[in-house]
Amino acid sequence: MEKLLITGGKPLEGEVKISGAKNSVLPILAASLLSDEEVIIGNVPHLQDVTTTISLLTEMGATLSIDEKMKVCINASSVNKFYAPYEMVKTMRASILVLGPLLAHFGEAKVSLPGGCAIGSRPVNLHLEGLKAMGANIKVEDGYIIAKTKKLKGAKISFPTATVTGTENIMMAAVLASGKTYIKNAAKEPEIIDLANCLRLMGAKIQGDGSSNIIIEGVKNLKGCNYDVLPDRIETATFLVAAAITRGKLTLTHTRPDTIKIIIEKLKKAGAKISVKNDIINIETKSKLDAVNIVTNPYPDFPTDMQAQFIALNSISKGKSKVVESVFENRFMHVQELVRMGADIDINGNTAIIKGVKDLTGAPVMATDLRASASLILAGLVAKGQTIVDRIYHIDRGYECIEEKLTKIGANIKRLPK
Ligand code: EPU
Repeated sequence: MEKLLITGGKPLEGEVKISGAKNSVLPILAASLLSDEEVIIGNVPHLQDVTTTISLLTEMGATLSIDEKMKVCINASSVNKFYAPYEMVKTMRASILVLGPLLAHFGEAKVSLPGGCAIGSRPVNLHLEGLKAMGANIKVEDGYIIAKTKKLKGAKISFPTATVTGTENIMMAAVLASGKTYIKNAAKEPEIIDLANCLRLMGAKIQGDGSSNIIIEGVKNLKGCNYDVLPDRIETATFLVAAAITRGKLTLTHTRPDTIKIIIEKLKKAGAKISVKNDIINIETKSKLDAVNIVTNPYPDFPTDMQAQFIALNSISKGKSKVVESVFENRFMHVQELVRMGADIDINGNTAIIKGVKDLTGAPVMATDLRASASLILAGLVAKGQTIVDRIYHIDRGYECIEEKLTKIGANIKRLPK
């Protein structure tokens, strides 16, 4: 397995171009299944999860091409297999996003039920209940969700918990259903708005995205479109933490500062100097930051996808801090690895208590999921000596060209071959 070797201690300086958002491009790629016309998607990040989704669509029979700028052109009119196999779903849970579009457009789908995950049990019961309320016939057999419908119909769906991909699946199912669908307690993440913007361009009638009440009026069919994916707010925030943790100075371009207001607030509170202009964020940190308390919650609160990176930052900041993970039940796997690097962290249920230490020291560590990998890389960038991060296939799922981007701003980071 490939590893990353990081020699820590250098402040990062320079400019980073932020890539398109992983969690936008995945549902938008799935949305191409809703039309018989060509859907062209731009600002697509070169990520393992994108490659997996593209393989999935191709396996289903979609015609697909990618140009040198990663513009992806998909025509789903040739789709003739409505099937997402276990081999793909087990490497990427977001494969579940094909369920809603397949049912809505083709009336059938067979999608492997995603299993457990390193960050929590992550059931998809709310996706299935929503689709059932819209008239789909759904059973689970031999580990697969088998769904059929003559025609989906609009329904009133009230999620007990706001779910991001659940909201996306129901939205994509509802755009071709007969009548109106009302989603209550919908997720409000910027990626939901991005998907809705793309679907509207395809002719869908959607209102209220970005709020907790979304109303979708089904239309007969959707046309093709040409759409650029939103910049990645979690990549943006991770680079902000990279500047903060190494006491560096970075300019992030092609981003959307309005999607990470809470991160900017927290970093400013910790003592970082941040300025924002249009799609650019400048950050400068000269001295050690103050530790900040965090509670993760759905957007617009603090994102669970930045919890691990902030624990790394807090572990070498001044003072004691408390980080509460409220979204997933098991998202502290990075903590024991950070402790191996000298961090002082205690876990009690869903709360981590972090006492800032003077220095972290390099160590061999193991990545357990995408954001955990990011936190270990951040720790490695500031640690004394060498850190080897193992199982970095996780990082390639969600951060485009991570070591190239970090090298360009002065990090000493190298990929070790298998
Ligand atoms: N939940 C249920 N039942 C369901 C669906 C969700 O109980 O049917 C629970 C989950 O177990 C969790 C909570 O609801 O406790 C919220 O989960 P959600 O469904 O919102 O998560 P998701 O849609 O599976 C997306 C992102 C994750 C991100 C979460 C939370 C994508 C492809 N994935 O997952 O991204 O952490 O929302 O913001 O959009 C990542 O990028 O590293 C990542 C894990």
